[in-house]
Amino acid sequence: MRAWMLRRTGGPDVLQLTDVPDPHPGPGQVSIRVEAIGINYAEVLSRKGLYAWAPKRPYIPGMEVAGIIEALGEGVEGRRVGERVLCGMQHGGYAERVVIPANRALPAPEGYSLEECAAYGVNFMTAWVALVEMGRLRPTDRVAITAAAGGVGTAAVQIAAAFGCDVTGLAGSEDKLVRVRDLGAHHTVNYRSPEFITRLDEVTSERGFDVVLEVVGGDVFRACHERLAHFGRLVVVGYAGLDYKLWNPLSWWRAWRGAPRMSVSDSAVASTGLLATHIGYLLPDEEQLLAIWGALTGFSDEHGLRPVVGSTWEFEKLPDAHRHMESRKSVGKLVVRV
Ligand SMILES: NC(=O)c1ccc[n+]([C@@H]2O[C@H](COP(=O)([O-])OP(=O)(O)OC[C@H]3O[C@@H](n4cnc5c(N)ncnc54)[C@H](OP(=O)(O)O)[C@@H]3O)[C@@H](O)[C@H]2O)c1
Repeated sequence: MRAWMLRRTGGPDVLQLTDVPDPHPGPGQVSIRVEAIGINYAEVLSRKGLYAWAPKRPYIPGMEVAGIIEALGEGVEGRRVGERVLCGMQHGGYAERVVIPANRALPAPEGYSLEECAAYGVNFMTAWVALVEMGRLRPTDRVAITAAAGGVGTAAVQIAAAFGCDVTGLAGSEDKLVRVRDLGAHHTVNYRSPEFITRLDEVTSERGFDVVLEVVGGDVFRACHERLAHFGRLVVVGYAGLDYKLWNPLSWWRAWRGAPRMSVSDSAVASTGLLATHIGYLLPDEEQLLAIWGALTGFSDEHGLRPVVGSTWEFEKLPDAHRHMESRKSVGKLVVRV
C-alpha cells in the first residue's frame, strides 16, 4: 500500500509518499480500508518536530481516518467486514490501510459521509471534553471559543450554541467570523484586528466569560483569561499561536512568554480556574472514552450537528493540505480523500 512517511522534520515537503507492506490484523484487531483522512494541527506540529505525543521517527503520521472494515483478526466478535467506521490513533493514518484494535473502530454516525466522519471524531471529542467534561458547561454560561473557524473551533461553537449558551467566537479574519456566526455564535471578535481589545471589552462589558476554550496562547490567552467571570473556567486545548522554532533560541523565549499560565494566588483572588486537556492521553481508558462518545453522538444527533468539511484534498496532494492549514486560511476540517 502507499503511505506518507515522516523521516525528518521540516516543511510539508519532508512528507514522502512511500510503498510499504500491507498491514494484516493480528488477534483482536481489524484492518480498515481508509477512505478519508482528517488533518489535525497536531500533525503539522509533529512534522516540525514540535509535538510531545509524536512517536520516534521514521513513522507514518495521521491521527484520524474513516473507512471500511475489510478484514477481522482472530477472536474479533461483533464486527463485520464492510462496516463503516472512524478511528483515532497516535500515528499511522496517512495510509491506504490501517490496522487497529477492534474496539477502537467506532461505528460511523448515521447520515454522515465518510468525509464527515473523518472530520468529526477528534474535533468534536476535543470540544466536548473541553467544554462539557472540563468546562462543566451550563445553558446559562457565556462561552468564548478561540480559532473558532477551525476544526475544533467549528465543533465547539456548534456544541456551545446547541447547549443554549451565549457564544463568542474569536478568529483571525473577518471572513472566518462570518462562518462562525453562521454556525451559531452570537458575538464575534477578530483578534488580529487593531480593535481586538476594544471589541472584547464591548462583548464582556456586562459580564465576563464563564467558560473559555482556548487554542491560540499568547495575547489571545491573556485577554480571554483576564475577562473570566467569577467561577469562570478556561480550558487550554492548544497553543497554535506560539511561534516556536527548534533552530531559533530567541523563539524559545517568546514561546515561553506566550505559554498559558496562571498563578494560584491570582486565581484565588478572581475565583477562576485554568484547566488543560489532551484527548490522546484518554485513549487507553476505553470505558470512559465510550461513555463520552455515546453522550457526544447522542447530543450531535439530537441537535442535528454536522462537522464542517472546509476543504478536501487528493491523497497524492496531502502536503498541500498541511500548507493550507499553516496558512491560517483554512476553515473547518481539511479532509484528504484516499
Ligand atoms: N488537546 C487536544 O486534545 C487537542 C485535540 C485537537 C486539537 N488540539 C489543538 O487545537 C488547536 C486547533 O486544532 P485544529 O486541528 O482544529 O486546527 P485548526 O483550528 O483548524 O487550525 C489551526 C488554527 O489556529 C489558528 N492559529 C493561531 N495562530 C496561528 C499560527 N501562528 N499559525 C497557524 N495557525 C494559527 C488559525 O486560526 P485563526 O487564523 O483564526 O487564528 C488556524 O486556522 C490546535 O492548537 C491543536 O493543537 C488539541
